[in-house]
Amino acid sequence: MNLENEKNDKKETIVTPWQVKGDINYDKLIEDFGLSKIDDELLNRIKKHTGKLHYFLRRGIFFAHRDMNIILDEYEKGNKFFLYTGRAPSGYTHIGHLIPWLFTKWLQDKFNTELWFQFPDEEKFLMKRNLNLEQVQNMVYENMLDVIALGFDPKKTHFLIDTKHAGIMYPEAIKVAKRITFSTIKATFGFGNEQNIGAIFYTAMQAVPAFLPNVLEGTHRPCLIPHAVDQDPHFRISRDVIPRLGYYKPASIECIFLPGLGGITEQGKMSSSNEKSTIYTIDDKETVKRKINKYAFSGGRETVEKHRKLGGIPEIDVSYQWLTFFEEDDDKLKKIHDDYKDGRLLSGELKQILIDKLNNFLDEHQKKREKAKNRINDYIYKP
Ligand code: TRP
Repeated sequence: MNLENEKNDKKETIVTPWQVKGDINYDKLIEDFGLSKIDDELLNRIKKHTGKLHYFLRRGIFFAHRDMNIILDEYEKGNKFFLYTGRAPSGYTHIGHLIPWLFTKWLQDKFNTELWFQFPDEEKFLMKRNLNLEQVQNMVYENMLDVIALGFDPKKTHFLIDTKHAGIMYPEAIKVAKRITFSTIKATFGFGNEQNIGAIFYTAMQAVPAFLPNVLEGTHRPCLIPHAVDQDPHFRISRDVIPRLGYYKPASIECIFLPGLGGITEQGKMSSSNEKSTIYTIDDKETVKRKINKYAFSGGRETVEKHRKLGGIPEIDVSYQWLTFFEEDDDKLKKIHDDYKDGRLLSGELKQILIDKLNNFLDEHQKKREKAKNRINDYIYKP
């Protein structure tokens, strides 16, 4: 197949930090990216430290990793890792963004660790033609409220905003940048010569928090990065460079995407710029209800009669899929699955279960988000 055809092939799958498209085969991604699958052995090892596993681990929502065993080796020797994750603001937070953050919060609690949270305000500014810096910085503020609302411990959580913390980040970023070639960036992200030079440099900035705490605090600790699998290309590159600066290779634990409302086949992950595929954390009850009823792809049958007889298809039903991300109770989830598959539960009823679940969650979240407005300063790193 020549390149032209390949580009036109609708089935083409693309996973980069800025574009996720097509049917995603996560086993293939493990192979292509060179990740390790999270297997039972690793799960048991994590369980020794955490007790009952988070349902994201039990259900394979976090499915892959790099060097988790080294993180645990060091932890068991008494050398505690720090956590690092981030969010490049381009719009309001949607519920897909919350998945890695919820898991990060669990890790912070279970391992009692520091978290460094990066808000690279330059990233989407550089990548998206229609975003100006002021818009992005407003979204930094809005997105911070969501992170704080999840309950991270302010004493152990440090926000880094690239343009604000440039004074401490830039000296480290240039050390990384000096060891990455333009051809590596081109090959990794598919950039051409028309790409702006800020975007080419950006990976160096995303590498910095993976070792900056050691610089600032004079420690030699490993770093664990929980993130969605699309961010892996940045860290694949950083892992080659950071050891040459004298720090541990950053380890990662990586999750799948929450599918968009329109279905798993329509697009790979939820996009903040498509209101039809997304529920934002600031959506009110009516909006949540309307979007799910109107847009959530259904695995139900055309008529009630057929549905009762043949049953629904939970594997392609977005409402069911979303419940696997938001209904923590395994027994409840299994009952919903079985009732739907056997035709006892109708598509509209399944949607209602999801609507109630999300609205309850968002109701709480929005209250905490309001309170977060007075607390931002407690989280921003002060050198
Ligand atoms: N590039 C990420 C985004 O587009 C933001 C980010 C920065 C990040 N550092 C990170 C994500 C570390 C995960 C882990 O949102």
